[in-house]
Amino acid sequence: MKVAVSQKTNNWYYIKNLEQDYHCKEGILEISQLQSNSSKITSTKGVEFTLFNASHHDYIQKMKRSAQIIIPKDLGYIASRTSMNKETILLEAGSGSGFATTFFSGICKEIYTFERIESHFECAKKNIEQRGFSNTTIQLKDISEVLQEKNSNLPQFSMIFLDLPEPIEILKHVTSKHIINGGHIVCYLPSTRQVDQLVDFCSQENSQYFVEEVSESQIRNWRVNSKSNRPEHHKECDFTAFLIFLRYLG
Ligand SMILES: C[S@@+](CC[C@H](N)C(=O)[O-])C[C@H]1O[C@@H](n2cnc3c(N)ncnc32)[C@H](O)[C@@H]1O
Repeated sequence: MKVAVSQKTNNWYYIKNLEQDYHCKEGILEISQLQSNSSKITSTKGVEFTLFNASHHDYIQKMKRSAQIIIPKDLGYIASRTSMNKETILLEAGSGSGFATTFFSGICKEIYTFERIESHFECAKKNIEQRGFSNTTIQLKDISEVLQEKNSNLPQFSMIFLDLPEPIEILKHVTSKHIINGGHIVCYLPSTRQVDQLVDFCSQENSQYFVEEVSESQIRNWRVNSKSNRPEHHKECDFTAFLIFLRYLG
């Protein structure tokens, strides 16, 4: 896939098929231009475009969505805060649209992701397959049932990521069979009530969970051009969810 950005409108076009001309309202980009190494091309309507190869971030712009997704500002912080790397073996639920899954797939050694709603499962599965990750296994199952299975054939994980509304119900079933001591557990929760309940649960006597951090991430985009440099309006206060970072003590 290539990306063509119009210099006239700043519209971004995601061009999947490079074997044919690409038609858009700003003219036609011809196959010979799309297949060339040129980064500056001009459409049949005389509009100039910047052209480059797509990255994962570009692919996700075109991915189908079924459930609310996690956006890059949160994914990036989760990955760095948990030191995610090529040794990480991740258990994830729910898969949702597979946005978090496909981001983590590019970093981790292995991912096992579970989704209990069939339509979401199908969407996430397709997105994972389209990105071609062979280190990622998705199953249509409730994660709490999976954790209670006696012979589940799952590895011992180094990290658990939960983007679902009731993480406590899941954490009740986690044992040292599932995750290593000191392993990271991250819960993604949009409301303060959920955060309160989770922190209370983790603060009980003999809890297996240490609350390492409760945070949110913010990113501030700037408009930089020849006329002025300033923060973009309305973007700086966008709230998505709280990030609760736990460590497993068992
Ligand atoms: C907000 S979505 C996850 C979005 C995903 N992180 C992404 O970036 O595309 C939450 C998903 O969790 C699923 N879910 C909720 N409870 C679950 C459970 N116990 N087991 C498996 N999936 C669950 C829901 O069906 C929903 O699809």
